[in-house]
Formats: sequence, structure tokens, C-alpha cells
Amino acid sequence: MALENYIRDIQGFPKEGILFKDITPLLLDSKARLECLEILVSTLKDKKIDKVIGVESRGFFFGILLAQELSVGFIPVRKPNKLPFATLSASYDLEYGSDTLEIHCDAIQKGERILIHDDVLATGGTAKAVCELVERLGGIIVQCNFIMELTLLNGRAKIAGNEIFTAITF
Ligand code: PRP
Ligand code: MG
Repeated sequence: MALENYIRDIQGFPKEGILFKDITPLLLDSKARLECLEILVSTLKDKKIDKVIGVESRGFFFGILLAQELSVGFIPVRKPNKLPFATLSASYDLEYGSDTLEIHCDAIQKGERILIHDDVLATGGTAKAVCELVERLGGIIVQCNFIMELTLLNGRAKIAGNEIFTAITF
């Protein structure tokens, strides 16, 4: 079965008018999960990734799998006040208001080659904030990858200039 069949549409979650793309069927199925991981990894051959970032919370699932598969370190980028050591923050706009993401200051050394992973590229606000954190720490963004991309929202434009890969496109 094609990978997109493991993404479930939930109408009206988390609020009315929103069509939520639920990745839990993909997480439940070990074969589909492995296939998704292999598709993501296939684009990373010879890219010399030093570390993988996973974005809280849904970016943690495949982020840690990718880091393990590539035999490199994993960096959690987290929502505010979750990381215990010294942090760097970046804010991004939401439909109403804004949100913030944080990274540990010592997570990336200057010149390290970083893979940024999240489950969905929607408006691109989240990914843009993560790119900003990596750049401020002197990391090199090798690729931003996602399980899926919601093309109508044109999140790519927000992180233009970076290599982007998505396993599924809606
Ligand atoms: C969702 C999703 C991505 C982000 C994509 O996370 O997991 O991280 O939104 O949206 P954007 O491209 O418009 O920024 P959310 O903030 O809902 O939190 P979660 O991962 O903890 O569920
Ligand atoms: Mg998220």
C-alpha cells in the first residue's frame, strides 16, 4: 500500500474547519514505517550529515530513527521552557499570535552539517524558526525533510534556499 494511505484525515481537529493529517497509522505499521524511513534516508547518501534535529513533538518520531540510521547525534528542538540547559530561542507567527522553539546552545558546533526533520511542512513557520536556530549556532543546513508537505500552504517559500525533501505530497 502506498505511504499516503497510512496518513489519516481527521476533519475538524484540533478545531472546526481544519483537516488534520494524522500520522499515527504510519507509526503503527512497522513495514510502512520502515519504508518511510528508507525513502527519507535514500536522499541522504554522501551528504555527510553530522547531526539530526527533530522538532517537538511529532518530529521526534522519525527524527530519532533517522539519527540512528545515519549513526549520528540527535538534537531535540523543543517548545519553550522544556530544555534544562542554556538555550537559544526563535519565534514564529501562527494564524493568531506566535510560538517559540528552543535549542540547547551547545547542541551544534560551528560548521556541523545538520539535517532538520519534522513530520509536516505546512505554512513553513516552524521550519523557518528551526533554520534560524541552526544558522545562529553556525551549523550548515544540509536538508530539511518531512514525511509530508501540504503544498497549498506553500511552506517551501519560507525556507527557500534550503534543500527540501518530502516523502509524501498532498
Ligand atoms: C505541527 C507539525 C509541524 C508544524 C507544521 O506541529 O507537527 O511541526 O505544525 O506547521 P507549519 O509549517 O505551519 O509551521 P505543532 O506545532 O502542531 O505541534 P506538535 O508537533 O507538537 O503536534
Ligand atoms: Mg510539530
